[in-house]
Amino acid sequence: MIEVGEDGRTWLLSGPTSSYALRLTDDDELLHLHWGPRIALADAEALAAEPLPAEWAFESRLDGHEEYPVEGGRRFVRPALSVRGVGVRGSEWQFSGAVTEGDALRLQFGDSVHQLGVTLVYRTRGDVIERYAVLRHEGRGDAPELELLRADSATWTLPAREHWRLSQLHGRWAAETRLVRSEITYGEKVIGSRRGHTGHQHLPWVALDAEGATEERGEVYSCALAWSGSWRIGVSQLPDGGVQITGGQGYDDSGQEVLAPGARMVTPVFAGLWSDGGFGGASRAWHAYQRAHVIPDAAVPRPVLYNSWEATGFDISEEQQRALAERAAAMGVELFVVDDAWFGQRVSDRAGLGDWTPNPDRFPGGLKPLADDVHALGMRFGIWVEPEMVNPDSDLYRAHPDWVQHQPGRRRTEFRNQLVLNLARDDVQEYLWERLDALLSGAPIDYVKWDFNRCFTDAGWPGERYPQRIWNAHVRALYRLLDRLRAAHPSVAFESCSGGGGRIDLGILSRTDQVWTSDNTDPLDRLAIQNGFSQLHPARVMAAWVTDSPNTQLNGRVSTLRFRFVSAMAGVLGVGGDLTEWSAGELAEAGDWVSLYKEIRSVVQLGDLHRLRPPSQSLSAVQYVHGDETVVLAWLRAQAHGEEPPRVRLRGLDPAAVYVCRETGSTHRGAVLLHHGLRTGLRGDLDAAVFRFRRV
Ligand code: GLA
Repeated sequence: MIEVGEDGRTWLLSGPTSSYALRLTDDDELLHLHWGPRIALADAEALAAEPLPAEWAFESRLDGHEEYPVEGGRRFVRPALSVRGVGVRGSEWQFSGAVTEGDALRLQFGDSVHQLGVTLVYRTRGDVIERYAVLRHEGRGDAPELELLRADSATWTLPAREHWRLSQLHGRWAAETRLVRSEITYGEKVIGSRRGHTGHQHLPWVALDAEGATEERGEVYSCALAWSGSWRIGVSQLPDGGVQITGGQGYDDSGQEVLAPGARMVTPVFAGLWSDGGFGGASRAWHAYQRAHVIPDAAVPRPVLYNSWEATGFDISEEQQRALAERAAAMGVELFVVDDAWFGQRVSDRAGLGDWTPNPDRFPGGLKPLADDVHALGMRFGIWVEPEMVNPDSDLYRAHPDWVQHQPGRRRTEFRNQLVLNLARDDVQEYLWERLDALLSGAPIDYVKWDFNRCFTDAGWPGERYPQRIWNAHVRALYRLLDRLRAAHPSVAFESCSGGGGRIDLGILSRTDQVWTSDNTDPLDRLAIQNGFSQLHPARVMAAWVTDSPNTQLNGRVSTLRFRFVSAMAGVLGVGGDLTEWSAGELAEAGDWVSLYKEIRSVVQLGDLHRLRPPSQSLSAVQYVHGDETVVLAWLRAQAHGEEPPRVRLRGLDPAAVYVCRETGSTHRGAVLLHHGLRTGLRGDLDAAVFRFRRV
């Protein structure tokens, strides 16, 4: 809902529990008034009547109060917008109008020197507010071009509080989305990626709380960026203690795009959420927002998949894949995915990327015979691709060595023996469209795991007049390609992968069906990774596989099938072990876990998540609530002193209701589960259990 003040210069946007207010002064300064609990228009107007702080020669009265601080004038904060025209930098705008359309507010400004139009867009989606900016060169004919040195999506302003604390999700390969919290102090904390993709190092999300929010209580402000390339989020504590969060595409301020007369640039969405339900309440609101407005077909639960990567590596054959598929189908798997090494001369990571036709020695009849067999086994069929890359040892590179990102006269840096294709080029986009469209048309493929296994290093574009635009243009081309493939092949689902969780963000999630959370499939490490992931993203997109024990990829850890399954059942369950090595007993037990998962998956994937105890504690647990159904997953790292692990207090239940536990058949009173907790019976090391409750 959007309300407008009488003079048309105060706006109040409200969601179910929150409000956001802003005000345009007589000098066309756009000031922030409120972001927090729901207020009335009269409250916003009272805030609007309060004067800004007095000005000193060394402090700007605007700093910390503006919705979208531009470069220039009396401002010393980091500008969200920095524009260079011929001989003139910075911006000075006049208000030119406001448009409200349903839940969207568009505020329009013009800079007459640059002939630049700036539209700031606000859209409410429940309590989430999506913000972005549209920049237009409004000059005609031979007006000079404008260089956008920096064009952030939004600046978020937090109310004055003492002791703001920052939560972030940091990581690296095989150790993504680890949650850390630290108090912020004066100055700026910057996170981001200068790697060309979202990156394993930080999820583009921050959360701030000031008064010791807990999992279920307290105010939490959080922001997330919908962009899958390089990005930056800066959290600044200003001299007066105020805090602003500015974020957008691109890492630095050295120039992103050039706008010719008539051209425009739309920034990605930088979404913000205020919640007073603690970190758990914030996560549930983010999850509901993504299921309702971001993720395609989010109301449909994802199938159980099998992926052959950990079992076979690069050594694959049609026969061996068929043998795995038979075992997977017998276990109840619903989607069988052939990973790397089915195409070109891809017998190792040294060759073949770029040549997206089946390897004739490995798949003499193409992919169709295997796909047909997989379908005959009652499963869907998927493949792995890494379209944005090329091995120098490939037919594609031999034909088009100029199609990769490179700097003239410099070494072409290889990671994993591969180079990055310049997706900003139309011919590269067209080649990929043709190859992938032909692939999806040539065999009955239902699922594509889309990987990206190295960062940008030599992001040059010889011959291009403004090569820096490669960074943003690559991401837009990727989005266009995915959108085009989805439109042409609407029944195909896509997974976003980047060496595990290197490309997870709201931008990619609006055009993929699930993400590969991490190459780390160790079930204990995964609890921490999944805990971090769940701060922002829902279980509905969080793929998790059960692999072999001892763990072959990382640490040799030995764990039971029970522990591995219960860990992976917290998201979209998959299996990734070498099933040809599993005993008949293990295969049968795995089949039981898969059928249990199918019973609980709509609760897990579509329900409300409550993180009951974090994985930093020896006993950790999560709970999902969906209608009258509740599922609890609990894990014990190591029992100490023979003592019974603590009871787990449930949440989100009706204290007056009675719940029956499907595992034991016993009934439990809601009030008892809420206030005294559930005895899990877990013991020893790496134990785990699933509890299903139904309200009676
Ligand atoms: C990446 C992915 C893995 C697997 C390999 C294949 O590392 O994250 O899951 O697909 O590539 O080369």
